[in-house]
Amino acid sequence: MCGIVGYIGDRSAVEVLISGLRKLEYRGYDSAGLATISPNSKELLRIRAKGKLNNLEKKLIDDPSHKDAKIGIGHTRWATHGKPEEHNAHPHTNSTGSLAVVQNGIIENYHALRVDLKYLGHEFISETDTEVIPHLISEFLRGNTLLEAVRLAVGKLQGAFAIAVLSADYPDELIVVRQQAPLVIGIGKNENFFASDTPALISYTNVIMALENGEIGRITRSGVEIYNFNGDRQKRGMQTLSWNPVMVEKQGFRHYMLKEIHEQPGVIRAGLAKFVNEKNEINLGLDAKLNLQDLTNIQILACGTSWHAALVGKYLLEQLVGIPTTVNYASEYRYAAPPIMPNTLVIGVTQSGETADTLAALELARSRGDRTLGITNRPESSIGRLADQVLDTQAGIEIGVAATKTFVAQLLMFYLLTLELGKSRRSLTTEAISTIIEGLRQLPAQIERILESQERYIENLAHRFSHARDVIYLGRGINFPIALEGALKLKEISYIHAEAYPAGEMKHGPIALLDENMPVIAIATPGQVYEKVLSNAQEAKARDAQLIGVAPMSDPVAVETFDHILPIPIVDEILSPILTVIPLQLFAYHIAAHRGLDVDQPRNLAKSVTVE
Ligand code: F6R
Repeated sequence: MCGIVGYIGDRSAVEVLISGLRKLEYRGYDSAGLATISPNSKELLRIRAKGKLNNLEKKLIDDPSHKDAKIGIGHTRWATHGKPEEHNAHPHTNSTGSLAVVQNGIIENYHALRVDLKYLGHEFISETDTEVIPHLISEFLRGNTLLEAVRLAVGKLQGAFAIAVLSADYPDELIVVRQQAPLVIGIGKNENFFASDTPALISYTNVIMALENGEIGRITRSGVEIYNFNGDRQKRGMQTLSWNPVMVEKQGFRHYMLKEIHEQPGVIRAGLAKFVNEKNEINLGLDAKLNLQDLTNIQILACGTSWHAALVGKYLLEQLVGIPTTVNYASEYRYAAPPIMPNTLVIGVTQSGETADTLAALELARSRGDRTLGITNRPESSIGRLADQVLDTQAGIEIGVAATKTFVAQLLMFYLLTLELGKSRRSLTTEAISTIIEGLRQLPAQIERILESQERYIENLAHRFSHARDVIYLGRGINFPIALEGALKLKEISYIHAEAYPAGEMKHGPIALLDENMPVIAIATPGQVYEKVLSNAQEAKARDAQLIGVAPMSDPVAVETFDHILPIPIVDEILSPILTVIPLQLFAYHIAAHRGLDVDQPRNLAKSVTVE
C-alpha cells in the first residue's frame, strides 16, 4: 500500500508530484506529503497533511515555498504503524531535517533499530516504522556518498519495502530502493521520474525502466544508474508502455468504478480478439515449459475479488476438463500449503500483480518446484517477473478500488484456459468448444443491453434499498462465487453488511436471520440448479424477506417468485457469471453513490495490498 513518487528536471516538482499522487491515491489516502529542495536557499522543505490529497493541496496554497523547486519526493499513505495523523505522514526526516525519506512497505525490524538509534542520540517524532530510515542513513553518511549511505542503511533493514531519499546535501539526485515492493522509473528528456505505479508517470512519459528487487537506483536529471545491494552496477533496458494518459481519466463518468463497469463489453471483446481467431481456435501462447499435457492437478492462489474469479475457474476446470483444482486464499497458503504433489500447475490471479500475499504464496509454490502461471491485467508488475508465464487479461489499468472490469477479464481468461486445456486433453469436442466461444462472443452485446436498458431501473431499485442494514446474497453452482462477489462489492463501497451463501445452505443456519427487514438477492439463471434456487428463494419469501432476483425478466416463474428483478438476458448457465455480476456491480455502485460515499476510494481500502 502507500504510493511514492519523485521528480527531477525543469518542471515544477510540486506539480508533477501532486499529479502523480492523485494517480496513486488509490493506494492509500490516510495522509499525504512531499519534500522538495529550494533552488534558492538549497534547504530541504517539507509539507504534510492528514487525510486526502486535497488537504495537502490546500496547505500548499498557503505555503508557496515549494513553488520553484525542480526536485522532490511525495507520498500518499495507507497507515500501518501509527495512526493517520500529520506527525506520522511521510516524508520523514533525520534530526537536522536535511534528509527526507518516503517508504511503501513495512520495516519489520524497526523497533530494534529505533532502540539502537535512540541510544545514539536520535530523536523520534512519529510512531512509524519509516522514521528509522532517515536516521540510519544519516549515521552512514559520515565519509560516504548518499548512494553508499543508503546502500549501507538498506543492509540493516528487514521487510518488504520501496524507499526514496532526498537530501539537501545532494540536491541533484534522488536515490530509490526496491525490495519486494513496486517501484518503476520513468525516463524523460533531461528529466526523470519514479513512482510506485505507472499511472503516476503516464502523463509525462511512457518510457520506463523497471527496478528489480534488491536494487538501488541513483536518478539525476540526465540519467539513471542501477546497483545491486552489493554495490555492483547493473545494466537495464527500457520498456515503452502502450498506454495513453486518457486511459487513466474518468472520461465524463461520475466515478472510475462506473466507467470501468461500462468498459466491460470492450474488455471481453479485447480478450477474445487477442486469444481467439475467426475459426474459433484459441491460442493463449502458453509456453511448452508449463507441460500442460501431464498436469494432474491445479492450485489457484488469490485474494478478494480475484479469489472469486478463481472459484469460477475451479468450477470450469473441474466440470469441463476434469482436472482436480483447489482455490486457496493466498494468505493462508503461505503458512499452510497443501502437500507437494507432482505435475501441479499453480496459478496466481491478481489484478494489481502486486498483492503481497499472492506473490509470496506463488514464490513458495515455485520454490517447491511447481510450474507457475500468472493471470493479471498488469503483466509489467511483480507477478510478471515471478511467474513462469503470465497471461495478460487485456483489461488494462483499473483505478476504482472495487474491482469490476478486471474481474470479468479474469473470468474470461479462465474460460479460455479451460477450453484450451479441454481441447488439448480431449475432454471437450471442437463443436462443444465452438458453441461456448460463440456464447462468449455474444456477451459484450448482452452486457451492453443490460447497461443501456436496465441501469436506470437498477439505480432506482438501489435507492429503495440504500438504507438496508444487512443483505444476504444467494447463488448455487457456478453462480455461488458471483453471490460472494456481489456481497463483497456492496460491503466495500456502501459499508452495508452483506453475506453470501450457497442457496442450499441457507436453511442450515442463516435462515434464522430472515425477517421483513432483510433483503435477499438470489441469482437464478436457467440451468441445472434453476428450480433449486427458486425453491430456496421461496423459503426466504415464506419468512417475509424482501426478495430480489438476478434472473431473466422473460421467465414468468421468476417474475412471480421475486418481489423485484435485476434482469439479465437468457444465456447458457455455464456462461452466466459474466452477465449475472453486472447488475450486482451496478446495484452496489448506485447504493454507494446514493449514500454520497467515496465510491472510488472506500474507507480503509487500497487498490494494491502490498503488505502482508
Ligand atoms: C475487491 C478488491 C479486492 C482485491 C484483492 C486482491 O473489489 O479489489 O478484494 O480483489 O485485494 O487484489 P489483487 O487482485 O490485486 O491481487
